Parts: sequence; structure tokens; C-alpha cells
Amino acid sequence: MYLKEEQGKWLSGEMLSNKLAVSRAAVWKHIRKLKEEGYIIESSPRKGYLLSKVTDLLLPDEIREGLDTGVFGKKDIFHFRETDSTNIRAKDLAAGGAPEGTLVIAEKQTRGKGRRNRIWFSPEGEGIYTSLILRPAIPPGEAPRITLMVAVAAAEALLSLTQLKVRIKWPNDILVNGKKMAGILSEVSTGMEKVDYIIAGIGINVNTREEHFSEDIKGKATSLFIETGETFSRVDVIQAYLKWCENYYEMLRKSGFEPVIRRWKELADIIGQRIMVDVMGKMYFGQVQDVGMDGVLTLKDDQGRFHRISSGDVLLDQS
Ligand code: BTN
Repeated sequence: MYLKEEQGKWLSGEMLSNKLAVSRAAVWKHIRKLKEEGYIIESSPRKGYLLSKVTDLLLPDEIREGLDTGVFGKKDIFHFRETDSTNIRAKDLAAGGAPEGTLVIAEKQTRGKGRRNRIWFSPEGEGIYTSLILRPAIPPGEAPRITLMVAVAAAEALLSLTQLKVRIKWPNDILVNGKKMAGILSEVSTGMEKVDYIIAGIGINVNTREEHFSEDIKGKATSLFIETGETFSRVDVIQAYLKWCENYYEMLRKSGFEPVIRRWKELADIIGQRIMVDVMGKMYFGQVQDVGMDGVLTLKDDQGRFHRISSGDVLLDQS
């Protein structure tokens, strides 16, 4: 965007119209659109236009600029100042035929969905709330692999941006120092034999201050800012996430799930650990035997019985 290159300088309408080879009215219309999107542009009848501050919003043009992917984020990006849930928006788009790689982003969610019917805390401008439409050619039974893959990609993105010790907590929470920094909610729509689409939704606490977390998650949640003391560009974080996501998605397609689950296991470090899992209020204690290709956790309890658990909350690491 030319205005951005010349940020902080007054540019006359006439000069812009010559430079861009469009009419003065077209320049004015474009400026109005940029302002509506959230760019801060001053106008003066005498001096012209001035882009005074590059926005901190997750605007599509900002994300596209310098995004090093082939497909993810290269299709439509739908940006909302506020929406109920990006997963709901993405589902509507996917049902209407939106292609793989379409992205939905919100600055704020009023009904952000968490796993197990929880609400995902989504304050304005502090985190990333985004949903990616995927259309993998896989049978429905393999859909959980995509969720594990997204967890690996998110962890890799955070590792690439920081020195933090980023871990995965089964099945797909991203933790730093034992506190949750990001969560993933995948929603699948299947046909008879294959997946129609998967909505890969992720929430990342980026610049959230400790005191801003709601009471119920204080002490359990963390953010990049809290862990590093630095403010992060959310655009950088989402670009890194999309890049890693696409890398692993390609890996999954070309080399199968083995390398992905291997990395997941390294980052989760859960095999052999003694844990307690809450499955809809029922508690299971035992030692983790494996996490399978379907993401199912096998637990051996103290009586030597095996339990296959596909969804739950790991509560306590007793090791
Ligand atoms: C979890 O409970 O750990 C999963 C949280 C997932 C939250 C993200 S935010 C973007 C996307 N839209 C939603 O409504 N939920 C996911």
C-alpha cells in the first residue's frame, strides 16, 4: 500500500491520483474504505492525506503482506471488529462453498466457543481469534489428526517467535509454565465417506494482561505478554501460525501422520506419565500408555485395566 510506504507524510489527492492513475474521486473512495477498515488516516483539504499510524488491527491486507504461504490466508480473509464466534462464521462460509485456506478473524468474540461447551475468553484486540477452513481428502475417522496437527503447528509458531518452553497438553491445549496460552477447537462436517470440511479454530492469548483475564481463568491462563514482558505484533503471530500450519498440513498429505504425531509426542511429553483425566465428571487415574494415530489416549489404571479416552481434561500430573 503506497500510503504505508509514505507513512507519516502528507500526500496530496492530486499526487495520489497521478501516482495510482485513478481519478481524485476514486482516491477519496479508497481512503474512505481504508478508514472504515480501521486505518487511521488524517485528511486536510489543503495538505491531502496522512497515514498517521499503522493499525494494530488484524486487517486482511496487513496479514497478506509478507505472508509466506501458498494457500492458507491467501484466499478470502474475513475480518470482523466483533462477532459471536469465528467458528460459526467459518462454518457458514464453508457450507456455502468457501475454499480451503479461507480465514475468519475477529478482534473480539461475544460467544467464543471453547471445548466442551465452555466459553473462550475473547477480549478486544488482545488475542487472536481465528478459524481456518480446511478440506482435507481424508475419511471422517482421521479428522482428529487435523486437530493434533494444528496443536503442533501452533506450538511451533510460538517456539519460533520466543524462547519460551511451549508444551502441548493432551489433547490440544498449548501451555507455557503450566498455564494455557492457546486453545484449539476443530469442528468437522463429514459426508458418507470423506470429510467435507474442517473448521480449525484457535484462540491465542497474545498481549493479554494478567489483570484482564476473567476471574474463572485467572491463574490458569497466560499470554505471550505475561510470559515474555513484551508486546507482540498479532500480525506476526498469525503469519507464523499460518506458515507452520501449512507446513504440517503438507507434511500430513505427503508423508502421512507419523512425523506429525512424533512431533506431537515430543511436545506433549505425556507417554509414561501418571495423570488424572476428567471425562464428563468421571475421573480416571493411571499411566499413559500411548496416544494413538486417532488422538485417543490409552491409560492403564492401578488395577491394570486399560481405558481408551478420546476427550477429557487432564487435571493433575502426579509424576
Ligand atoms: C479450548 O477450549 O481450548 C478451545 C478454544 C478455542 C477458541 C477459538 S477462538 C477462535 C475460534 N472461534 C471460536 O468460537 N472458538 C475458537
